[in-house]
Amino acid sequence: MQQRLLTLLSEQFQPSRRLGEQLGIERDQARYLVQRLIHEGYPIEVSKALGVRVEPGTPLPQVLEPLLRGSFGRPYRYLGHTTSTQDVLRQWAEDGAPEGAVVLAERQSAGRGRMGRPWISTPGSSLTFSLLLRPRSPIALLPLAVGVALREAVGLGGLKWPNDLLAPDGRKLAGILVEARVGTSSPGLVILGIGLNVRPPVPPGAAALSEFGPVNRAELLARLLEELENQYENLSKPERILEDWKKYSVTLGQEVTVKTPRGELRGRALDLAEDGALVVESQGATERIAAGDVSLIGRLGG
Ligand code: BTN
Repeated sequence: MQQRLLTLLSEQFQPSRRLGEQLGIERDQARYLVQRLIHEGYPIEVSKALGVRVEPGTPLPQVLEPLLRGSFGRPYRYLGHTTSTQDVLRQWAEDGAPEGAVVLAERQSAGRGRMGRPWISTPGSSLTFSLLLRPRSPIALLPLAVGVALREAVGLGGLKWPNDLLAPDGRKLAGILVEARVGTSSPGLVILGIGLNVRPPVPPGAAALSEFGPVNRAELLARLLEELENQYENLSKPERILEDWKKYSVTLGQEVTVKTPRGELRGRALDLAEDGALVVESQGATERIAAGDVSLIGRLGG
């Protein structure tokens, strides 16, 4: 019943009485269900005079679907709260979800970031979602390709290796988590997690996209899914991905410290290797970093 109510909501206020009529229940029952949806994390506004609506730009399935231009985002699950969209999508993938499936949640109780860090977001304030890929070709450049897609969709900021999107002043706008099971006998499976700060509140030191202009979350999500699909297709043109990533880089040419699984290194980020590794000159030697966490020295937000 709650899910049916969600399908009836829109950006226009509707009286609870009318929502109740459509569901075949009393007005008070409809009001109770609305409160339950709010409690679950859905960004719903209630006005005594006007009724009930979702916040403008809420990525409800009935709002997102007409905006989609490709196959990413189909099918789509929109949740109020969950543990982590990564886990929900992994389970769905095991149950047979197709490539392009997306799970988006307004709130996560166990959202996770790169290097084992937590990822915190507030309902209505971010785009917090996971996308399922079932790649048939090598995915070494996928993290960079996703960074390019994010930058193209958002239209501002720069990329910190491998794929953090930083605002022009260096604060973090978005992060990407690539969790892969690379196929041996079965095809590969990638759960791509994206957390994009759209509106305040954001964690200390982070930036929100709305600081740079108005944002409609549903439209932005549709644009991002389209860019992700374009870049995913570009995996067959690696030189194109490397070139685009370099165009948006705020990493190359900078003094950096890199935390890697093998320890910490300080030097100058010189280039990208063909496989997307970061080439760093450190103490006269050239190192290739395949995985790690970069801090840009002398930049806010590192
Ligand atoms: C980073 O550390 O920068 C990556 C953050 C990725 C967070 C996203 S939010 C949606 C998805 N679900 C998660 O638990 N994590 C990713």
